[in-house]
Amino acid sequence: MSSFYGENIKMAVFGQSHAPGIGVTIDGIPAGKKIDFDRLSAFLRRRAPGRDPYSTPRNESDVPEFICGFSEGGVTCGAPVTAIIRNKDTRSSDYAAIADVPRPGHADYTALVKYGPSRDAAGGGHFSGRLTAPVCVAGGIVLQLLEDMGVTVKARIVSLGKVRDDGAEAACDKGAAREDRGPAVDFPASSPAVDFPASSPAIDFPVSNLAVENAMKQAIEEAKAAGDSLGGVLECVVEGVPAGVGDPMFGGLENRISGIVFGIPAVKGIEFGSGFACASMPGSENNDGFCFDENGKVVTETNNCGGILGGISNGMPIVFRVAIKPTPSIAKPQKSVDLKTGEQVILKVPGRHDPCIVPRAVPVIEAAAAIAVYDAILGR
Ligand SMILES: Cc1cc2nc3c(=O)[nH]c(=O)nc-3n(C[C@H](O)[C@H](O)[C@H](O)COP(=O)(O)O)c2cc1C
Repeated sequence: MSSFYGENIKMAVFGQSHAPGIGVTIDGIPAGKKIDFDRLSAFLRRRAPGRDPYSTPRNESDVPEFICGFSEGGVTCGAPVTAIIRNKDTRSSDYAAIADVPRPGHADYTALVKYGPSRDAAGGGHFSGRLTAPVCVAGGIVLQLLEDMGVTVKARIVSLGKVRDDGAEAACDKGAAREDRGPAVDFPASSPAVDFPASSPAIDFPVSNLAVENAMKQAIEEAKAAGDSLGGVLECVVEGVPAGVGDPMFGGLENRISGIVFGIPAVKGIEFGSGFACASMPGSENNDGFCFDENGKVVTETNNCGGILGGISNGMPIVFRVAIKPTPSIAKPQKSVDLKTGEQVILKVPGRHDPCIVPRAVPVIEAAAAIAVYDAILGR
């Protein structure tokens, strides 16, 4: 298995969904960095399950226990940081019933082919979305280190099912929406010229206004009631990365970010800047013209390249979008096969599942982007 990431910091994610615990080791975190654990907990709570009807009812507090890497007062000591999160609310009997019937869309079949009968199938084993909790522990720490360098990472929900947040509703709902959601943050590099709220500990559903939020939540509820699930698209913006970070060819920022983002279960696509849309644009439209800002810094008029040229940051915000597929485990009957009896069967997946992974994936994408960018900055 390859559950390691990074060149300059090295992250290893370990554990299985129904094992005693899951966790992470990160090597390469510099000594002498004070970590704010309250902020880290708030960040982890945004991903934790069981908080609302839009996520799995599996009730895990997801509190990390730090085994090493810190000296007194929560200051990093330079040694590898290791954190363990104990799994508490497991229900493996749900999976015993479908041990021989692979869930369509999940990794059950491929895991069985590759690892044989001794693979751990309970709760998806090492393939579970639960393994993104340790990624968030590492990412939550790295986000604080990046902040000290003036780098911020924020993600938002662009679409969920068929509901799009293009900010169209923002004009009619702005006042009320803003009061409820806190200060707006400009996502300057994204296509719509609309202010979107920062994803923050207070906001677990980062969209431009309450009308969009309600429409998305209603779509999740309808899918759940129909025994189905929904996917969506997230956009992530990394601001404050200086020009010159990254490498050409296989060491590019796009490669590094994609590498970790595709390690997040359910991610099926990624695009940077104008992404797939650039294929139908003329060069004159897609090229980002250079100019100087008021401080004499080289900037670009537009940001269709998503802040990356030749794999290297150009100093503009790094912008990418991620496609998250609908949760594979659904109650609706689906075709599968019983590998023991050799029969074609109709499967209704038991257990507790997220009707939509998208809201919980927001901090995970931020964590992944933070780790990739920090790793690249250290290698500059
Ligand atoms: C935060 C998060 C939560 C997830 N929750 C579930 C879930 O409840 N049920 C499920 O079937 N898949 C869930 N997944 C997705 C599966 O783990 C994933 O689809 C599966 O491992 C197959 O991998 P792939 O989709 O990347 O091919 C979740 C993923 C994430 C990131």
